[in-house]
Amino acid sequence: MSSTVITGIGELTTNDDALGTIADAAVVIDGDRVAWVGHAGSAPDADERVDVEGRAVLPGWVDSHTHLVFAGDRTAEFAARMSGQPYQAGGIAVTVNATRQAADAELADNLRRHVEEAAAQGTTCVETKTGYGLTVEDELRAAKIAASVADEVTFLGAHLVPPGTDAADYVDLVCGEMLDAVAEHVGWCDVFCEEGAFDADQSRRVLAAARRRGLGLRVHGNQLGPGPGVTLAVELGAASVDHCTHLEPSDVDALAASETVATLLPACDLSTRQPLPDARALLDAGATVALASNCNPGSSYTSSMAFCVTTAVLQMRMSVAEAVRAATWGGARALRRETGDGAVGVLRPGARADLQVLDAPSTTWLAYRPGVPLTRAVWREGDRVR
Ligand code: NIG
Repeated sequence: MSSTVITGIGELTTNDDALGTIADAAVVIDGDRVAWVGHAGSAPDADERVDVEGRAVLPGWVDSHTHLVFAGDRTAEFAARMSGQPYQAGGIAVTVNATRQAADAELADNLRRHVEEAAAQGTTCVETKTGYGLTVEDELRAAKIAASVADEVTFLGAHLVPPGTDAADYVDLVCGEMLDAVAEHVGWCDVFCEEGAFDADQSRRVLAAARRRGLGLRVHGNQLGPGPGVTLAVELGAASVDHCTHLEPSDVDALAASETVATLLPACDLSTRQPLPDARALLDAGATVALASNCNPGSSYTSSMAFCVTTAVLQMRMSVAEAVRAATWGGARALRRETGDGAVGVLRPGARADLQVLDAPSTTWLAYRPGVPLTRAVWREGDRVR
């Protein structure tokens, strides 16, 4: 196991309350863990030395919401949207058809390619979901493929009632045979609680069945309009409720009083021509906010967490520090991986050695130079991947 000291760090964002942000810093990586963090002058020696010459270093992005087990693309649907057509949950069925027809190797290659594309832009921890299979067999293979590549896997059999299927029968299938098949391959269960997908009662049944099997809970909620998603997520103690585009004041209060993370997906809102979520109201009320890409072929085909951070700062009234924290520590919190040995989204001794170097003196440049690729170097689990 070799060690590396990264020195000459102009600004080090640690997301650790005791360490804070450190100027003129160094980080030591030993194997796949962070071994030491502090002022460069007192850094211990290591096998290898990398001088980043005054650049900013921060934890790798933690992308806590993607849908990357898919085949096909939805360019035509996107183009139609840009000409004024609304986004509808039913578009998911197009990807379901393409995914069912694809071979396992094609799905795995596509997933790996997108995870590598994200890593080259600083993303070092990725959650991904099933949800484009919607049969027991297709959801199971999606879960297995996802588990072979992603850090965290979420079962989303309740993504859409397959066209031509009775909704009650499908919910029974998801709660029974489908969950039984996938449970050992996934850590989480999610449900698309939205008009055109699953209502509150159906969603509650799916989540309760998942909880009985020991899975953590997540909810897609309040994406296309106000609805019961946030209330349900808070009621059931879900780790996160994702989208939160259309919130009532009572939703904001409920989130602020809960442990449920509000995961905001601004690239999706832009790509579906929805308003951007009210991050300021959530933060000011005391809710925990995460930012994620929602990379998927239908509603948000980007793997760029930097784009999400930039949008959050320029359009959602988040400060740079808030947006960077939401895209690192916030994502880790949404996955319940921000503490303990091997924590992600933080740089402290014992954390997973996941970090990125910006070609910039500070994280402020993520918004100051919008759209400019600033990722200079990336370490994931101690390995330099860029
Ligand atoms: O998070 N909202 C539900 N699921 C995805 C959309 C997937 C799709 O359109 O293919 C989302 O936006």
